[in-house]
Amino acid sequence: PAEHACNLIIFGAKGDLARRKLIPALYKLEKIGFIHPDTCILGVGRAEWDTLKYVKVIRSALEIFMREESIDENLWNRFSRRFEFCNLDINHTERFVLLINKLKRLDLLTINYLAMPPHTFDNICKGLSSIGLNKELNRVVIEKPLGIDLDSARVINANVSKYFSETQIYRIDHYLGKEAVLNLLVLRFANSLCFSNWNNSTIDHIQITVAEEVGIEGRWGYFDKIGQMRDMIQSHLLQILTIVAMSPPSCLSSDCIRDEKVKILRALRMVDPYRIHEITVRGQYVAGFIGGKPVPGYLEEKGANQNSTTETFVSIRVNIDSWRWFGVPFYLRTGKRLFKQYSEIVIYFKKPVLNLFSDLCSCLPNNKLIIRLQPNEGIDMQILSKVPGLGNKNRLKPVNMNLYFNKIFSKEYVSDAYERLLLEVMRGIQVLFVHYDEVEGSWKWVDSIVKAWEEQSSNSILNVYQAGTWGPSESTAMMLKDNRSWNEYI
Ligand code: BG6
Repeated sequence: PAEHACNLIIFGAKGDLARRKLIPALYKLEKIGFIHPDTCILGVGRAEWDTLKYVKVIRSALEIFMREESIDENLWNRFSRRFEFCNLDINHTERFVLLINKLKRLDLLTINYLAMPPHTFDNICKGLSSIGLNKELNRVVIEKPLGIDLDSARVINANVSKYFSETQIYRIDHYLGKEAVLNLLVLRFANSLCFSNWNNSTIDHIQITVAEEVGIEGRWGYFDKIGQMRDMIQSHLLQILTIVAMSPPSCLSSDCIRDEKVKILRALRMVDPYRIHEITVRGQYVAGFIGGKPVPGYLEEKGANQNSTTETFVSIRVNIDSWRWFGVPFYLRTGKRLFKQYSEIVIYFKKPVLNLFSDLCSCLPNNKLIIRLQPNEGIDMQILSKVPGLGNKNRLKPVNMNLYFNKIFSKEYVSDAYERLLLEVMRGIQVLFVHYDEVEGSWKWVDSIVKAWEEQSSNSILNVYQAGTWGPSESTAMMLKDNRSWNEYI
């Protein structure tokens, strides 16, 4: 079914985000009939283009970024007719009226997608308010980087919230649009097996890994100023952590779910700066091999500053001071140029208190629930089983119960994160978007770590790791100190 009709205005129409993610996602939504026939898409930028030229740019973006899919000409005709282009310098508020002239229907709800850097938000929002496009039901979509620390995040928020209320602001964290992340809510709250075993009396610890094969991809200037902690942990990993750790919401409304997530962020234990190196590991990659191909080190990337000490890898032990999670550490790990692109959440359950099989197995392994986020979304459960046989001594073996969603749901449509999120903005549902209180909570905690790293900089250790590995050996050592180890990739 087509969703509500709207005017979708994309600021930064010719930028990377628009061409790489938004245009392909909109095309796919068109294909499955989820865009209302009256919806118009207005690209805004400083290029001296007309609509015809813009449509050509859209076509080439689709050809480049939807490689696996050929473009259907009938569909393209319908899709391309939705577009208009408006040349606008956002520094001139009085020129925003040009947007009004380009919109065919002014009675429709307007979604303003700011695919632009945050320093432009103030001018854009001011311009939109000057022509009334910030009124009641209209929405504004913004996305990371929403600051580099708490202070800058506050400034960005103040600039947007001068003109739009919290219920109109949709902050994207694209991990919240991933199928497997959404499925976490169902797994946790629709299955009593999980529901009743999700606390510190049954769980030993939890690991969250987001490993990337990609390096800096021409983004050195941006990435070097922030590093993996602010780029990945502050956003994607903490979002996953809150969904894994939150208490059951009383309903599935945006307010209820986001309130529970905020409680987790507020309960993150602040680190003791003097123990920062016991609970965190920072790393930076040097040249190595990925999939058998040589790749350069971080300092050899294009535009690199040879003295950079920015981290491309972080692992960290997180404690949540709540009744549910007291004594259950969460270990987070993320890095660029690791062995494989692979993300997972692993729940390690406690071992049985008494080992009745000590003659067969001196140390019973933890049962593990492995939630694979990407690629090959699915769930594995590791249990210990008797090996069949008549011998008078049983043999025990850890076995895996695997669920692969692409096999079980092979006939279902699996959407990309941006398709899902654009649709939710059109529907006006905020559950999958980050509330400002979450932004505050995550930056407060991340700032405390970054500050501790800076304060301890005389011995702020930057460990190197070879590209194509699982990160610095110190990350393995951090787990060993707690008598644990990272879940092995099979
Ligand atoms: C982005 C980060 O938000 O997420 C990138 O800025 C990172 O550095 C990317 O590579 C990872 O997203 P995904 O969906 O490819 O796992």
